[in-house]
Amino acid sequence: MKIKSILTFLLSVFCLSVSAQTVYSARSEADINMKVEELLAKMTLEEKTGQMNQLSFYDGKDVEKQFLQPLRNGAIGSLLNVENVEMLNRLQKIAVEESRLGIPLLFGRDIIHGYRTIFPVPLGQAATFDPALAEAGARAAAVEARSVGIRWTFAPMLDISRDPRWGRIAESFGEDPYLGGTMGAAMVRGFQGYSLTDENSLAACLKHFAGYGAAEGGRDYNSTNIPPALMRNVYLPPFEMALKAGAQTVMTSFNDNDGIPSSANSYLLKDLLRNEWKFDGFVVSDWASMDEMIAHGFAKDGKHVAELSANAGLDMEMVSRTYIRFLPELVREGKVSMETIDNAVRNILRVKLRLGLFENPYAPAQSIAYTDESLKLARRAAVESAVLLKNAGNILPLKEDVKIALIGPMAHAPHDQLGTWSFDGEKEKTVTPLRALQTEYTHVKYVYEAGLAYSRDLNAGNFAKAKAAAADADVAVVVLGEEAILSGEAHSLSSLNPVGRQSELLSAVKSAGKPVIMAVMAGRPLTIERNLHDADAVLYCFHPGTMGGVALFDLIFGKENPSGKLPVTMLREVGQAPMYYNHNNTGRPAPDNPVTLEHIPLEAGQTSLGNTSYYLDSGRDPLFPFGYGLSYSAFEYSDLSLSANSISKTDSLKVSFTLTNTGKIKGVEVAQLYVRDLVGSIARPVRELKGFQRVSLDAGQSKTVEFRIAANDLAFYGSDLKRKTEPGEFTLWVGGNSNATLNANFTVEE
Ligand code: GLC
Repeated sequence: MKIKSILTFLLSVFCLSVSAQTVYSARSEADINMKVEELLAKMTLEEKTGQMNQLSFYDGKDVEKQFLQPLRNGAIGSLLNVENVEMLNRLQKIAVEESRLGIPLLFGRDIIHGYRTIFPVPLGQAATFDPALAEAGARAAAVEARSVGIRWTFAPMLDISRDPRWGRIAESFGEDPYLGGTMGAAMVRGFQGYSLTDENSLAACLKHFAGYGAAEGGRDYNSTNIPPALMRNVYLPPFEMALKAGAQTVMTSFNDNDGIPSSANSYLLKDLLRNEWKFDGFVVSDWASMDEMIAHGFAKDGKHVAELSANAGLDMEMVSRTYIRFLPELVREGKVSMETIDNAVRNILRVKLRLGLFENPYAPAQSIAYTDESLKLARRAAVESAVLLKNAGNILPLKEDVKIALIGPMAHAPHDQLGTWSFDGEKEKTVTPLRALQTEYTHVKYVYEAGLAYSRDLNAGNFAKAKAAAADADVAVVVLGEEAILSGEAHSLSSLNPVGRQSELLSAVKSAGKPVIMAVMAGRPLTIERNLHDADAVLYCFHPGTMGGVALFDLIFGKENPSGKLPVTMLREVGQAPMYYNHNNTGRPAPDNPVTLEHIPLEAGQTSLGNTSYYLDSGRDPLFPFGYGLSYSAFEYSDLSLSANSISKTDSLKVSFTLTNTGKIKGVEVAQLYVRDLVGSIARPVRELKGFQRVSLDAGQSKTVEFRIAANDLAFYGSDLKRKTEPGEFTLWVGGNSNATLNANFTVEE
């Protein structure tokens, strides 16, 4: 036995008798690392693998055998899904007071967009382009979760999503790496606060590492085929940005990328995360994503799973128990080194100590939920996440003396309005559009006729009543969309048209001859082109959360002015997927208005249409582009000027322009900055978002808006996987969406 392991062995034998009551009041990193080593030296191999074992709790049978006894043996390091705070404290008390070393449990939960107070789904929060608001919302969620003993959330989800067939697009920040990373970093700050030991702080978890959103065909869990440079330039930047915000944990993804499941991808978990990014928190698998490597055909059995994952640098196993079953044996066989185990346990203990878990392991006496502050924040988030897509004749905002016919399956859907991943939201608290009229907008005259009982309802038996209600009102407000279950994990769709008979309901209501306001509550961008002719105005609300209904009427009645912008391209047809703004130009970009089906002459010659990249039926363009959103105001961009026409590689460029509110009411515009590298060592996207600002302007007011863009912001990974800014010509645009036209050119010098 080597000297070092003899000393370790002797130290652990000596320390075995040490009381488990040592209470750590760790503060500095040096202090924390010292405590980690001290604790590690006392731990048996079984106790070490216990820390690497996370189980999902259930109030089922065998709690004693499944949980209490393993806790006393130090065989569980973390639990998720403990929903009862008394049970949580009971389990923690056993871990702290009845196990040999008293290492506290880390309780985790999916707090993705709120705990009790539910905020808009992350795709909706991305539409706010308001990181400060996302941060505040995450903080509000942390306050509620910490009040019931949860210390770790499996959020933010940072998967770039370019395919709305994928149900988890709802949980993402959309298609853009800069927006996704900015919002993700904001949520990390919100969850973790200024101090991890703060009574309201949670450890954040960046997921799903990596490339999960590129599931082929938008079919969840499917393989991804992301080449290295694309991984670096599109899928990884949000993780890097959010790690810089101090995220303490990372979760591996289900997908195999180019054949390698992330839970055993040592390039991701070691070369990149540890060696390049210097991450010193811990990595947890996704739910059984380790064990699923057998199904992937990447591991032959559970023991092989444990060996591959541990050696790839995966620290904690979520629920599939291969670590606790096989690691001791693998260490004894020399297939996994003790150093590997020790490093994993160090990462886990370090985060537990940083969270102050040893000093403060229990849930507080009093839970906190639905404070005025969190409800106000949720209302503001729901307002800002709504995207005004159409407003014919400026029909919106309405006056409050109109009579409304409130119609549609989402007009009173307290459960579904909360959206996916809202385990702990309570539908009784949801302010639906109907409840908003019944509680806050009580002076507004209305009639309510759902027309359909739920989004998938095929029963058109109430269409006539809905149409009659519209005929008897001044305006119809038709709220359509998706039940919550239709987006989120494992909920992919091959059609994005509004499900059921919602489109027919809308047409029936429109045939009453009154103006129609269509509001959509959904987890993804649906293909609504066919519905537009039946709607005079369209507000796209995603799933807006607890306060979504009152926020909708705040917007409809003009108490609030819409400012949301699309965080994801809205397709004309599902067959256009994947379609995203930051695409490469290809060698044959389609022209404006390419010839499409209805215009193709009979017996058209083979090359008569021109050979370029588009669809004969749905053309080149989406229905609405990334970054698009209207306002009750109108905004004009002018006087674009650059601080220089060329910059060195160490320089930065000041971009300034005048933004004017040419409308009649005060409004907020999300001004966006896009850049294109005209020639690169690999083809570069036609545009990339490099900045955005929410600018508030009174009617008629102008402001000079400035962006600063450093040459380093233009860097990308070439085929050599080296990040560099290449000299050459660039074009930048400023505007209110990714089709902005106001532009200027500049050069980056050699
Ligand atoms: C799920 C999800 C992951 C979640 C975890 C725990 O399968 O993929 O996002 O955090 O399991 O619920």
